[in-house]
Parts: sequence; structure tokens; C-alpha cells
Amino acid sequence: MHGLALLAACSEPTTLRALVDGVAARSRRDFAEIAATLMLLIDNGLLLGAETPLQKTDQGTWAHFPTHIGLLDDELRTKQFLAAIRAQVTADDVVLDIGSGTGVMAVGAALAGAKHVFAMEASAMAGTVRELARANGVADRVTVLQGWSTRLELPTRATLLVTETIGNDPLGEHIVDIVADAKKRLLTKDARIIPHELSVYAYLASVPDELADYHRFGAGNTGRWSRDYGIDFGVLAHVTNQALPTSLEQREAASLLELSEPVLVGGVDFGSTLPLITPFALVAKSAGRFDAVVSYFEVALAPGITLSTRPSIASPTNSWLTRLWLESTPRWVAAGEVIRLQARFAQSSIVIEPTT
Ligand SMILES: C[S@@+](CC[C@H](N)C(=O)[O-])C[C@H]1O[C@@H](n2cnc3c(N)ncnc32)[C@H](O)[C@@H]1O
Repeated sequence: MHGLALLAACSEPTTLRALVDGVAARSRRDFAEIAATLMLLIDNGLLLGAETPLQKTDQGTWAHFPTHIGLLDDELRTKQFLAAIRAQVTADDVVLDIGSGTGVMAVGAALAGAKHVFAMEASAMAGTVRELARANGVADRVTVLQGWSTRLELPTRATLLVTETIGNDPLGEHIVDIVADAKKRLLTKDARIIPHELSVYAYLASVPDELADYHRFGAGNTGRWSRDYGIDFGVLAHVTNQALPTSLEQREAASLLELSEPVLVGGVDFGSTLPLITPFALVAKSAGRFDAVVSYFEVALAPGITLSTRPSIASPTNSWLTRLWLESTPRWVAAGEVIRLQARFAQSSIVIEPTT
């Protein structure tokens, strides 16, 4: 509660002393307790010193080059988005690129002949978009706006939206909210959207012990620790945390045995609202050990142009991590056995869980 009081008291610049004294007097809390909370708010970037440059508020790793190098190195992702842009852009289009990063999509749209491109980027990467546009001779048709799209305005509504704000949890970067806000304020009524549809699939998988041991407390690792440290770790093998998926790199995800065919568990058509809970059934195609459910997504970018992150067919340079929902206790299933699960869609996450 005094954390909120501290934030409220900072709606105008104030000195540390006045802030702590004021909140301490009002909340009747200890000075030290208030000061500790204040330091926590400052350390986490929620409160800034008056002299702190605004760049410091850049979110997480988005301003870091390696993140964007990984994205551009994902050749299939980048080529498919650029192909969709080329297929969609006409000379009459005003394009909006939300989450521009290096500017690859914005510059791609300008080179494809768009009348004008607005590139919105929250982080300091906005500077690279300007550089890229200049170097490619399209600076006069690319306007860069630094900030969150939900807080920015456009002088005119865009006719085509491009946004690669798809996370490892595909909804984790708030693409649903971003598109909904853009449709309300920034796009024409009949604007096209790249991607226009996102589908989530799931299948049963067997996970090699060695890999599973990195991600779950099981008989293997707890037995080893019990022997190594003389402490009985066996109890941890029964501890579950199924609500949290683990994430695998492409190479690891592709090495898993698919124990069932994937089924569509739901998705987002950016023209409609999300279903909240979808039950689904996975049928084992052969006998085997059911260790986990794998979920992945596909996006429809333009007619005939899609991108799939299904581990067995995704590009080796796939920059998205694959979601793995590990069972706490692996079990053997017979061919034809049916496992019933449900997918729960929230605004910014998808959870795969047992049916309720
Ligand atoms: C996955 S990266 C994609 C970068 C680039 N479009 C590409 O495809 O290589 C997402 C970028 O979107 C930015 N971003 C996320 N949400 C945003 C929003 N609502 N408004 C502006 N930028 C956003 C992040 O800072 C990040 O640079």
C-alpha cells in the first residue's frame, strides 16, 4: 500500500526527503520500510531520478542488438513477412509497422512501393529504423515514431498494418491488444493486417530423459542429487508446476518424438474476439511414453503465405522458443489412447491444461 502511495506522490517531481517524510507521516509506517520500498521502485525502473535519460526506460532486451540479430537471422520468418508485404502493398497504401525493431518490415514496405510508411518502435531501436530508411533511399516515405503504439497518434489512418509482435507465448507480446487498439484508432475500417490470423496447435510428445531432467524434477535428477549430496531429494519428483510451460530451442524441440498428430486448439482471427476455453483431444498414434504436450503456432500472413513453428518442419534458425507442457509423471499410453485437455486463452497468454 505504501508503494502505491509513493508512486502517487511522484505524480510531480519531488525530493527524496519530502517524499519519504510525507508518505511516512500519512501511512504511519517506519521510515526505513518506506525508504526500502522506494529503493525497490527505483531499482526496477518504476521511479526515475529527474536527471535520468529516458532511454533508461527502454523495455528489457528490445534495445539490445543480439535480440534483433536473432530475428534477422531467422531467415524463413523474415522472408515470409517480406513476401507477404510485397504481395499486399500497393502504391496507394499507407502502411503502419508496429514494433519496427531494426526497421526491416517498414523499409521492406517502402521498397515495395507504399505511398507512406509509419514505423512505431518503443525502444531506442527507433534510431536504427531511421538509419535503415536513409541508407535505402526511402527516408522521405518512412516516418519513425518512437513510443508505444497504444500511446501514439497518426496524422492519417493506415490501410495496411504489419506487426511482428508475436512472442514465444504467441500472445505474450500483447499482439491482441496492439491490433485491437490499432483498429480502433490508427487503421481505416477495411485495412488489411499482416498477420491476419494466428492458430495454435498442440501434440503429445516423448521427451528424452536427459532433456526432461533439465526441465522437471524427476526420478533421474533427484536420485542423482540424493546420492551426490546425502540429502533425500526424492520428494521433489512429486512436486508439480504444470501451469508454467518450459521453452525449448528449435534444435531441442525438433528432437522430440511426436506421439500424436497435432490438433488445432484455437486461435486468433484479428477480426474477432478470443474463445476463452477450448477443450481438445489428442490421440496417441503409437504406443509410447507421454511426457509432455508441445504447443506451437502458425500465422497466415497473406493469401498463400504462411509461417509455421511446428518443430518438425520449422526452419533450423526459428527464433521462437517452443512451449513444452511437461507432465509431472510420465506415463505409457497405448496406440489410439485419447488424452483430453483444454486450451485457455487470455489476452496475453495461452495455457494448456487438463480439462476442468
Ligand atoms: C519481435 S520484435 C520485431 C522487430 C521487427 N519488426 C522484426 O520483425 O525484425 C518486436 C519489436 O516491437 C517493439 N514493440 C512491442 N510492442 C510495441 C508497441 N506496442 N509499440 C511499439 N513498439 C512495440 C519491441 O520494442 C520490439 O523491438
